[in-house]
This record gives sequence, C-alpha cells and structure tokens, in this order.
Amino acid sequence: MKIATKIEDIQEQITLLKQSSSSIGFVPTMGYLHEGHLTLVSEARKNNEVVVMSIFVNPLQFGPNEDFDRYPRDYERDIELARNNGVDILFLPETGEMYSRDLSTRMSVIERVNVLCGRKREGHFDGVVTVLTKLFHLIQPTRAYFGLKDAQQIAVVEGLVKDYFFPVEIIRVPTVREKDGLAKSSRNVYLSEKERVEAPALHQSLLKAKNSIQAGLRDPQQIISMVSETINNETSGIVDYVEIYSFPGLKELDTLDGEIIIALAVQFEKARLIDNQIITVNAKENKNV
Ligand code: PAF
Repeated sequence: MKIATKIEDIQEQITLLKQSSSSIGFVPTMGYLHEGHLTLVSEARKNNEVVVMSIFVNPLQFGPNEDFDRYPRDYERDIELARNNGVDILFLPETGEMYSRDLSTRMSVIERVNVLCGRKREGHFDGVVTVLTKLFHLIQPTRAYFGLKDAQQIAVVEGLVKDYFFPVEIIRVPTVREKDGLAKSSRNVYLSEKERVEAPALHQSLLKAKNSIQAGLRDPQQIISMVSETINNETSGIVDYVEIYSFPGLKELDTLDGEIIIALAVQFEKARLIDNQIITVNAKENKNV
C-alpha cells in the first residue's frame, strides 16, 4: 500500500493510474476505521482495479460546539487496517495540506439540506461538499463509496455530482450493524455501558415502523410518534429528531409513497447517534390500515 500525505504525491500517483486507464474506487473517510469503512473498501475492491482511501478529519464540517478536537483518531491502527484490507493507495493529508490558504470561493448546499442533520448542524454539508470537491478533483475516481447510515450525506453528494457533472458514480452501501442491530459508528466508543445496552432500540424502533408500513400504515405523523415513543421508553437518550421524507429528494410527504426514508438522531450523554431505514412504499396497497 502506498501512502501519500502531500497533494503533489497523490496527484503523481493518480496521473500514473490515469495513464494506464485503471478504474479507481474511492472510499473517503475521516478515519478511526471500523467494519463499516472496511465494507466500503471490499465493495470498492469488487469493481475497480485500484482502491484509494482518504483519511482526513475535515474541520470545515464541524460546528464550533461540535467534536472536531475530540473526534477519535488512531492513524497507526488505521494504516494497518487499510493495508490489511485491500487499500492500494492511502491519502492521509494534514489539515494545512488540504486548506493551505483561506478559500476564495464557498460551496453552499441549497437542496436536501434544511432537514434532518443538515438543519441541526448548520454549515455541516457545506463543509462536506467542499472537501469532497477537493478530493474528487484530486483522486478522479470512477466510483465513490458511501454508507447509507449517512443517508442525507448520500442525497447531498448525489446532488453535487449531478449539478457539477463529476464523472463519478456514487455507490450506496447498506449500513453495517453490530450483532444487536446498532449501526457501526466511530462515535459508538463514547457510549457508556448502560447506553450501549440501550442503543439497539434505535434500530428496533425503525424496524417496528417498517413493519407497520408494510402492514399498511401510511400516516407519517403516526409513524414518527411510534418511533419517538419507543426510543423514549427504551433509552435514556434524548430524541433530537425523527423525520420522514421522500428519498433521495428529502421532500415532505402527506402520505407515504415511493422511496422514503425514516431517519432519527438521538443524543446520549457524550454521543449523538443517527440511523435510518429506506423503504419502498406503494401507496395504493393497504390504504385503510
Ligand atoms: O462520511 C464521512 O466520513 C465524511 O463526511 C466524508 C465523506 C469523508 C467527508 O469528510
């Protein structure tokens, strides 16, 4: 595995790959790798000649009161995991390398952003699209792999790629879960023992909602109440939001139809967890339940 830390190094590597017309699968991450990231790598391995991973904790996507300084980092361990799991090139820049001077242009997300985490984390997705624009230009991937746990991120990135004609295919990869259903996340390490026992209730509440939809429930408000109630009853976390939208457009719905997302965020003492279910609904079926 090659490691590039400088912009010139990664550009040199990518130029060589482009000369040999190799397909590039790209896995952008903020490190502290877990099975979720490694699943993205193994998906990328299936369909590309070369797999590039980036590890960069992007300051631009953290708000002033968020956990940028506390965000877990373990680069030694990450390098070993990347090496042993089929990454060919690891791009590991310092902050000053990616933002060596003040930006003279600003990227601003205007659709799919005023809902879910986008509404709660002002400027977060502007930071995400800024860093991804830089990374897509540097890596020039054939395909880029994103986990569906961050479904709003996928919706925003799909919008970015479409708006600006990036020649990259965005691949949605299903959420990787612990045995008890908790979505894998770098932030799970912040949960106390008690919270870790409670946390699978997030996924269970979404499965309960999915079952009710499959049984015919179509009223978004009823489903939202059901999910919030389960989390309030079964965890000590505080529900930040439970929302339902079309996916990937993230538009409000009066009744459920087509591809929809039920997404939630729950604040535990030191960790804010998110999860979601994407479901295809046929409004004509089971209307009366
Ligand atoms: O999902 C993440 O880890 C980050 O938002 C990403 C896509 C690497 C951009 O910094």
